[in-house]
Amino acid sequence: MALWGGRFEAETNEYLKQFSESISYDKRLYAWDIAGSKAHVTMLGAQRIIPEATARTIIAELDAIKARIDRGEFEFKIELEDIHMHIESALIDKLGAEGARVHSARSRNDQVALDIRLYLRDEIGQLIRLLRAFQRALLEQAEANAEVIMPGFTHLQHAQVVLFAHHLLAYVEMFSRDAERLEECRRRVNVMPLGSGALAGSTLPIDREMVCRLLNFDRVTRNSMDAVADRDFAIELVADLAMFAMHVSRLSEDLILWCSQEFAFVELGDAFCTGSSLMPQKKNPDVAELSRGKTARVYGALTALLTLCKGLPLTYNRDLQEDKEQIFDALDTVKMILKIYPPMIASMKPNAGRMAAAAADPALMATDLAEKLVELGVPFRTAHHRVGALVKYCREQGRALDGLELAEMRSVIPEATAECTRLFDPRGSVAKREIVGGTGFQAVKAQIDFWKKQLAAEVGSCPAN
Ligand code: ARG
Repeated sequence: MALWGGRFEAETNEYLKQFSESISYDKRLYAWDIAGSKAHVTMLGAQRIIPEATARTIIAELDAIKARIDRGEFEFKIELEDIHMHIESALIDKLGAEGARVHSARSRNDQVALDIRLYLRDEIGQLIRLLRAFQRALLEQAEANAEVIMPGFTHLQHAQVVLFAHHLLAYVEMFSRDAERLEECRRRVNVMPLGSGALAGSTLPIDREMVCRLLNFDRVTRNSMDAVADRDFAIELVADLAMFAMHVSRLSEDLILWCSQEFAFVELGDAFCTGSSLMPQKKNPDVAELSRGKTARVYGALTALLTLCKGLPLTYNRDLQEDKEQIFDALDTVKMILKIYPPMIASMKPNAGRMAAAAADPALMATDLAEKLVELGVPFRTAHHRVGALVKYCREQGRALDGLELAEMRSVIPEATAECTRLFDPRGSVAKREIVGGTGFQAVKAQIDFWKKQLAAEVGSCPAN
């Protein structure tokens, strides 16, 4: 008979057992379930709700159960539904009536809310540490290739010259905001729900603040109905993961393009690419492609969770059991990406020659010419028109922008000076962009210095839980 079986006469239908079990996936919560139970029982003992000796016995047995699960010697069976009932019935099997006291003043509804929060708090710590490692890998490539010039793109068309390091550091910025979002989310995860019971708290004299302290939470939840009903903290986390995956999918797309024969801007290490079973010459950037593809799973999890909670009446509904697989899958997917990406970035070899050749396209410096005319007193819109006319002239005459004598340039741009014919050097173009946030050599060096300091300071800053 199930632990909840007091009022039941008939056996549970076989299909219902299969349909309703969650042990096949929520067993991964066992360590947090046991940590939560230990804190709960310690409090029950301190409050004399159960004898202190019983509390000690239960705690010792919980440790023994954890050790058995750690060693893979614990039997899971779908009749016991979920991780909470597995651990409670193992206690009762061993301790009889004493073990049966563990669930006083507790429901699986507040228990599962606690387990998820403990688990997510731990995962967030790991995610932030992995994100920092990812940023460091990008930063190291930026620093090692600080002088490499490439074309920057808008609309995937040659736009203006930039430093390769500047492009990489754009992602360091994005991942830093992703980490910030996770830190923010952690504040809302780190709230202690136990004591909310099924929905209406408990008539027993529990001490929630004590449980809160024992488990290192920032505070206790203020409303028992909210505490068992909502999963917004988990949805928020998955939204943060979706945002990160979106960022990674863009880096992936950049890498996929850069690895193509048309670009050949970088080469990734063999260890991070695969071949074709048919075409012997192929070397494919699978990690980037799979990361771009797996972003879809993370978006799927976010959509599933939002849909799961939409329109649910307060408070707990069994629907909420469906949250876990989505949360786990999103986390597993993102952690896998976070683990494989940094070493792949470290393996990346930029081809400075190819990038420089592409950046030598004088059209990339057309804006520099317009800005030079502004310096010479020409209103920008006029300057833009003049340079546009020059581009048209060059196309028609089959001439290159950087191949014109001053007199010929003046036939289209009367305001042009000798300087205007010398603007088509990519290095010179980069060197003139020394504003804060710009792609000038010094400006990018300043970004590198900033991130080196920042990431060194942040190594130890993530709470270890
Ligand atoms: N396995 C359940 C879940 O994941 C635990 C809570 C079950 N509560 C209940 N009243 N059946 O949501």
